[in-house]
Amino acid sequence: MTTAPLLSVTDLSVDFRVPGRAPAHAVSQVSFTLQPGEALGLVGESGCGKTTLSLALLRLLSPQGYIVNGSVKFNNRELLTLSEDEMADIRWRHIAMIFQGAMNALNPVTTIGYQIGEAIRRHYPFMTPVEVQTRAAELLDLVGIAPSRASQYPHQYSGGMRQRAMIAMALACSPEIVIADEPTTALDVMIQAQILDLLDNLRRQLGLAVIFVTHDLGVVAELCDKVLVMYGGVTAEYADVDTIFNQPRHPYTQELLKAFPDLTQPQTALNSIPGYPPRPDDLPPGCRFAPRCPHVFERCHIQQPALLTVSPNHLASCHLLESDANR
Ligand SMILES: Nc1ncnc2c1ncn2[C@@H]1O[C@H](COP(=O)(O)OP(=O)(O)OP(=O)(O)O)[C@@H](O)[C@H]1O
Ligand SMILES: [Mg+2]
Repeated sequence: MTTAPLLSVTDLSVDFRVPGRAPAHAVSQVSFTLQPGEALGLVGESGCGKTTLSLALLRLLSPQGYIVNGSVKFNNRELLTLSEDEMADIRWRHIAMIFQGAMNALNPVTTIGYQIGEAIRRHYPFMTPVEVQTRAAELLDLVGIAPSRASQYPHQYSGGMRQRAMIAMALACSPEIVIADEPTTALDVMIQAQILDLLDNLRRQLGLAVIFVTHDLGVVAELCDKVLVMYGGVTAEYADVDTIFNQPRHPYTQELLKAFPDLTQPQTALNSIPGYPPRPDDLPPGCRFAPRCPHVFERCHIQQPALLTVSPNHLASCHLLESDANR
């Protein structure tokens, strides 16, 4: 029996206003679901719309960005039509985000304990200062930081500790979903592994659903149940992690996997995908991957491929797959 999705995103599209140019279509018609406790990997090259999609879910886009169409349902409740106050009750309390580069965005003049407390006070105004302090200490402990360090300032923390503090902040109000946008960028590899282990353990321990936004397919292989591969703002492929790694059907996913080192075959040369991703304000008319695709044919330059069901729970958008897909 499948349980109702915790989060259900349907046909979500986001544009940015660009002065003097056509709007930039950063995210187009993206759909996915997230079950309680599930880990979804959101992957794709820089600029493919991962952060934009994540921010749109929380309605935290910058002023130039706007949701063109789509639906974001949390526990079957539409988030896109909520008032700003209602949406503020959802953020951090139900869906929290570890922002890309956030560990460098801690306030340098207040203590870590105070900053963790801010999120708690916003959602639980009835808690006494001592209760807030106790909860902040518990959260630090949960992420492996001695609670005595709550009284220290961000500059007294290492990069890895600052990222742990950000995770503690995201968990402050016991959300059901955490979106982790490149949570380990700018950390050395040992610390990266520790932070990813921490997130994975917390997910299992707390039953969290996590969206891991990353360039790193190794992270996805290790931590995720499902994978959404984005290219130029659209879904290239969406399936469970085994299918994506063992039976990728979209040429972009196939090329992306070849660009990733395979430890079982160390002699294999690494692939790089020639060319660049499209600009969202200057998209090609047909398939967005066509200019770089090794299997491109005429129709790819003319018509956008539909997202096809190539096998149960496996979606891919490629004209090559039309013959064996049932729509
Ligand atoms: N405020 C903005 N105004 C105009 N375009 C924007 C704005 N923010 C993002 N974009 C564009 O939207 C597209 C998607 O950007 P986004 O940051 O979501 O990509 P990403 O997949 O998160 O990339 P990265 O892996 O580098 O973090 C990019 O082409 C970007 O230039
Ligand atoms: Mg990003």
